[in-house]
Amino acid sequence: MYKTLSIVGSQWGDEGKGKITDLVGSKADYVVRYQGGNNAGHTIEFDGKKFALRLMPSGVFNPNTTVVIANGVVINPRILKQEIEMLKAEGFDFKLHISDRASVIMPYHEELDAYYEDLKGDMKIGTTKKGIGPAYSDKINRIGIRTSELCDTELFLKKLEYSLEYANKQLTGDEYKKYSFEEIKAEYLEYADLIRPYLTDTSLLLDDAVKAGKYIVFEGAQGVMLDIEHGTYPYVTSSSPTSASIPVNAGLAPRYINNCLAITKAYTTRVGEGPFPTEIHGEVGERIREEGREYGTVTGRARKVGWLDLVQMKYSVRVSGFTQVALMLLDVLSVVEEIKVAVAYELNGVQINTIPPLESDFAKVVPVYKTFTGWNTDISNVRSYEEFPQEAKEYLDFISKELELPISVVSVGPDREQTIVLKDLFEV
Ligand code: GDP
Ligand code: IMO
Ligand code: MG
Repeated sequence: MYKTLSIVGSQWGDEGKGKITDLVGSKADYVVRYQGGNNAGHTIEFDGKKFALRLMPSGVFNPNTTVVIANGVVINPRILKQEIEMLKAEGFDFKLHISDRASVIMPYHEELDAYYEDLKGDMKIGTTKKGIGPAYSDKINRIGIRTSELCDTELFLKKLEYSLEYANKQLTGDEYKKYSFEEIKAEYLEYADLIRPYLTDTSLLLDDAVKAGKYIVFEGAQGVMLDIEHGTYPYVTSSSPTSASIPVNAGLAPRYINNCLAITKAYTTRVGEGPFPTEIHGEVGERIREEGREYGTVTGRARKVGWLDLVQMKYSVRVSGFTQVALMLLDVLSVVEEIKVAVAYELNGVQINTIPPLESDFAKVVPVYKTFTGWNTDISNVRSYEEFPQEAKEYLDFISKELELPISVVSVGPDREQTIVLKDLFEV
């Protein structure tokens, strides 16, 4: 069997993908980011240090791991430069490959992101305003600029001319900056020099690697419920985090991706707009938010907090084909006396067991809860399943039974060490 593993957020993002990718990365020959851009913020903590990565794959701290930014990613070269400089300054030596077919985020994409959000008024998505949607729109519209095009000066300048004109024609209003050709040219030709040495046909690289029996980890950004196809549209991002998108976004055949780890918070969080059925209002929600430090890595926004939602999770397992679960931030639930889990929804008085297609219906669903007694004790030093209090074991066992999947990792704190790995993650 191929030694591939996808690490995918199963909820609305920020489930702890960075922590697990870093941990598993110690065994991986390659760690590959395959979608999204610097809307992601992946936190990694070890040896008393804390890093928040936006673009660089979270395997970058492991000296033996090669990191890859694949074709499906939208790259903001300014952020890439910052991360490369930061990693070098911190003394990390890394091997990086950047796809020659990835898309480039331009400064006008960030302006357009803000512009479209303002246009939408109270229907705004609450994006990270990092230009993600407009960059993917240009890609689909076939006017985007790819990494290899950026690195071909003549072609780049030709494409920049009309892509910039297209953007500036949309940006009406003095509050939005209209970039000039010359200022972008000067800045981006420097970025071309930065990117050129890393440019690689990463599809070919990964195909060779998988056939040679190398360990390959695919690191998703965002989460299944933010997926452009299967998420809570329109309150989603503009790419597909699901493991199903890896073949397209990394240029690797589907038959090589057989092992998918659902990164799942022991509760749920959501940033930005959109319905959130299990949201906890009031003091209990605040207690969880404070204990879990639930503030956005990228934008600093307070994350909305809710109970674990098994209707949502079963949907996620279905559309992303998860084979195992990493249950994250279990320690945070130590601060509550009672833990609720949604096991079904009621919509207009009728019980349903999946996510309705209309966002307006999703906003109306009422969760049916099962209540568990909390363990109310510090579990952040637990290092084996046996050491967990009985109440925590019951919680874990219930989730595993309901999802019909093994829980292969339990995380009880942000540090690398605070992790209980229950099985070989590369084994299906
Ligand atoms: P990602 O985007 O999925 O990589 O997740 P983020 O890094 O945005 O958010 C996860 C947050 O939870 C970060 O602040 C992590 O340091 C933290 N974290 C990860 N695992 C645990 C855990 O088991 N317990 C606690 N208390 N914090 C955790
Ligand atoms: P990681 O990888 C949580 C949310 C935004 C907004 C919506 C669309 O750290 O889990 P976008 O800027 O992508 O057009 O915003 O998606 N969002 C995230 N929420 N974690 C993320 O990434 C997110 N990336 C985007 O808040 O609701
Ligand atoms: Mg995050």
